[in-house]
Amino acid sequence: MELKNSKTFQNLINAFAGECQEHVRYKFMAYGAKTAKLFEVECALNEISKNEFHHARMFYTAIQKADNGVINNLNVNAGYPFKEKWDLLQNLQLSAQTEDEESTKIYAEYARTAHDEGFCEEAALFELVAAVEHCHSMQLNNIAAQIKDGTLYKRGEPVKWKCSNCGHEETVNEAPLTCPLCKSEQGYVKLELPDG
Ligand SMILES: [Fe+2]
Ligand SMILES: [Fe+2]
Repeated sequence: MELKNSKTFQNLINAFAGECQEHVRYKFMAYGAKTAKLFEVECALNEISKNEFHHARMFYTAIQKADNGVINNLNVNAGYPFKEKWDLLQNLQLSAQTEDEESTKIYAEYARTAHDEGFCEEAALFELVAAVEHCHSMQLNNIAAQIKDGTLYKRGEPVKWKCSNCGHEETVNEAPLTCPLCKSEQGYVKLELPDG
């Protein structure tokens, strides 16, 4: 079977469109985090956004490989989430769910289909991207949980906090509101996430 006549080809198109949207969605969320002065959360969201950009790039490359000529007017044929409003915590939680669904259901199914159709390279791509989406889900859940329970910058025991701007470190219960060295706001203190 030729790739461009396969289900896998349509799945690559749908995945490309989904990753492009996610790239932008995380830019929206990063903008929201910046507005809330959570600059390290902004940084984490920008990194996830960058990951989605590169996932989109790899799906786009796989689509282009299906035809040596110019490819015109491919139809996207999938539903996409439009759940997020402009609430940072809720957006983090909803995105974590979407990432989980993407990794455990959508890309897992796309990978199975690609295997069934004999497209091993494309199957491997879906599997590799699914693994990253799983990490995104965990990271987003961790950030959301810490914002929700107020532990993003405040713990019950001393924690080593590090200013992302000047590198100043302090082991205390609560990250300094203002860095004693460079006077940066608390939102520049690096996040303490289970995954690092
Ligand atoms: Fe992605
Ligand atoms: Fe993701």
